[in-house]
This record gives sequence, structure tokens and C-alpha cells, in this order.
Amino acid sequence: MSINIPRGTQDILPGEVEKWQYIENTARDVCRRFNYKEIRTPIFEHTDLFLRSVGDTTDIVQKEMYTFTDRGDRSLTLRPEGTAAVVRSFVEQKLFGLPAQPTKLYYIGPMFRYERPQAGRFRQFVQFGVEALGSKDPAIDAEVIALAMEVYQALGLKKLKLVINSLGDKDSRTAHREALIKHFSPKIEEFCGDCKSRLDKNPMRILDCKKDRDHELMKTAPSILSYLNDESRTYFEKVQSYLSDFGIEFEVDPGLVRGLDYYNHTAFEIMSNAEGFGAITTLCGGGRYNGLVEDIGGPDTPGIGFALSIERLLAALAAEGIKLPLEEKIDCYLVALGENAGDKCVSLLQQLRKAGVSGEKDYLDRKVKAQFKSADRLSARFVGVLGDDELERNVINVKDMTTGEQEEVIITDFISYIKENLS
Ligand code: HAM
Repeated sequence: MSINIPRGTQDILPGEVEKWQYIENTARDVCRRFNYKEIRTPIFEHTDLFLRSVGDTTDIVQKEMYTFTDRGDRSLTLRPEGTAAVVRSFVEQKLFGLPAQPTKLYYIGPMFRYERPQAGRFRQFVQFGVEALGSKDPAIDAEVIALAMEVYQALGLKKLKLVINSLGDKDSRTAHREALIKHFSPKIEEFCGDCKSRLDKNPMRILDCKKDRDHELMKTAPSILSYLNDESRTYFEKVQSYLSDFGIEFEVDPGLVRGLDYYNHTAFEIMSNAEGFGAITTLCGGGRYNGLVEDIGGPDTPGIGFALSIERLLAALAAEGIKLPLEEKIDCYLVALGENAGDKCVSLLQQLRKAGVSGEKDYLDRKVKAQFKSADRLSARFVGVLGDDELERNVINVKDMTTGEQEEVIITDFISYIKENLS
């Protein structure tokens, strides 16, 4: 019996993996420009970390975590997202004590959620995310949003919609929370089980319910924006004015609540509005999480970040018909005729590669014609043809595949000839 790949995961094969590398390189380059440094944290963490940060009323914690007990009887969880681990590391490694503040970090790596797989929703997916810790300047909020937009735009995406909201500070949220409870309580029996259990714990999440989204009380629910205190309102206005100054278009949506518990103040999502993108249009989500560092045991430190998945980014590229400029050429293919020439090609190929040139040869004893076919398939820029006869005369025949020109080159000059002509 053969063994299949687990549901909601995928193999990324050559031909496809180049797109991933291109996207990852682009993200890294944008981070370099914005001065964010890479951090790599473990794939699994203590389960408590996610209970304390993501929040126990969230879908992630209630039904999506891959949690297991290890041989030492510890409860561990495959990370469902990246923020918690970055904050844990920030506290544990005392990054707050380093001279360069705020601490600006990024990560690229697999995350795991036990979700129902469908287009754009996987059980293992790769997030690229950034976290800026240590500043409560609204300019950092704008910077983080601009960074996310820049990654998409650098890849050629155009059909993007940025939606922002403010969830306010603690006081604003408490006032809003009370208003929501008052609003929903009289008719909570008409809502789904999730909403009922959220009423007391986290009523804001009711606004995010897909099942009850058409209920009349949803449309008339009190908006968080009416409950922002002066400080929160001024903060939100400043973020918006920076975005406008950057020329980044956005929509304010008071219904944007996000599905993780640690957010306050700025929350945002970037969607694709490309035709045919499919049901799940959110490409990227993030927001501010002042207070999270303290909750994890660190000093009072504000923070903001976002994460996007490469899977959804690829879907957005496909929906907009964007082809990434992928370089698939090989520099030089060596065709050998005869046994001695074959051995010489093995040696020349090693020299080419040591000299920084990409090269390939045949390893399956193919006929000359088939070797040329291979060179073609690899889009070789040069083909070096060596027969026993040429070998005796100490030359190799080099064909430039872009011009069709051929030249006999002395074997000892071959490597430098290829190097010079490639540039
Ligand atoms: P999130 O909204 O849960 O936020 O996920 C962020 C992004 O990850 C989504 O917008 C989507 O692109 C992608 N994503 C989530 N689940 C899946 C899935 N099952 N399959 C494919 N892609 C998925 C967070 O994770 C926060 N940690 C973001 C953040 C960072 N907030 C502050 N800093």
C-alpha cells in the first residue's frame, strides 16, 4: 500500500519551488530596505505560549492546534503563527536590552493549523511575517503596513485592497465591550453556539461570525470607532495620515476585528480583489499588540506586525496572471563523444562549477543527439562538444546557443573562455 501526503499539505517540486525562492528573496530584499532582520525560532513551542498569547477563545486555540505530548510528558504545539514565538524569544533572549531599538524582525517559515483544507487554506502553510517591538509611534504602524504592501507590489500585484481599523486601547475596548454585550444580550438565543460563548468572553468576535453575519443585530452593532477615547482616536488618525502621505490607499472598516486575542489599536488586512481569486480573499493580516510582551513575562513593550502566507500570495499572482521573471538557464552543457572525451568532460564540468559557472552533462550514456536535446531542455547558453578526436588535438568545440556561432577553443582556455563570454 502506498503512503500519501497528509491532507492540507503539499510537495513543492522543482519548477514550482523557484517561484517560492523568488518570493522569499523579494521579501528578504524588502526587509533589508526597511531594516528588518531575520529571526528563526523553533517549529514547536510549549502549548502554554499560544494559550497565553493567541487566546483561549480563538478558533486557533479551540480547534486548530497540532498539540502533542513528548516523551518527557510536556505539552508542545506546532506553531500556528509566528508572533507568539517572536515575543517569547524577545523576552527570553532579552532583545529589549540591545542598543538598536525598536527591535525589527522578520521570519519566513511553516505554520500549522488543523483547518478544513480548501483553496487557499492549508494545514501546513508558510508565513512571511514581521514584528516591530519597542515603539508606539504611529509611524511604525504605517511602516509595517507599507512593508507588506511593498512586498506585494514588488512582485507585480495591483489588485489589492487594504482595510484598516482601530481596536482602541484597553479603556476604549472595555467601553465598546459593554456596549456590545448590551446590544447582543437580548437576542443572543438567536445566534450560533460560538457567538453565545463569545458574548461574555470576547463579544467583539461575534462581529466576525460567518454563520450569523446576516442577523439584523450585526448591521446595527455599535462600532468600535464610536468608542475610541481621544488618545486612541488621535493615534488612528495619525496612522491614516502617514498612509495617505505614502500614497497608500485604504478603507476604514470598523467590522475588521481579526481572529487573535492580542490585538489593540491598529488592525489591518490586505485582500486581493482580482477576479476569480476565490472565496478566501485575505492575503495578509496584522496589527498592534501592546501588552503582549508583558503577558509573556517581559517588560512593558509595545509591538506591531503582520503575517502573510506564500500560498495565498501565489494564488493572487495566478489570479492576476503575473508570471515571475524566473531564470532557468544553465550556463554550459558538455556533450561527449567517446570514452576518453567522456572522462575529460567529467573533469571540465567540475572545473566549470568551481569557477562559478553552472554546468551539466549526460550521465545516462545517451547518444549525441539526445545529449543535445538535454542541453536544449536546460536552455544551456553554451554547449561544449568534445570528441576523442578533438581531445587528441587539445581543443573543444563551443557553440553559443543564442547566436548559433561555433568556435574551437584550446581546452586549457575553455573555462576562462566560457566565463568571459557569459558576462
Ligand atoms: P492570521 O490572520 O491568523 O495572523 O494569519 C495571517 C495570514 O496567514 C493570513 O492572512 C493568511 O495569508 C495566512 N494564513 C492563515 N491561515 C492560513 C492557512 N490555513 N492556509 C494558508 N494561509 C493561511 C497571524 O498569524 C498573526 N500572527 C499576524 C501578525 C503578526 N499579527 C501581528 N504580527
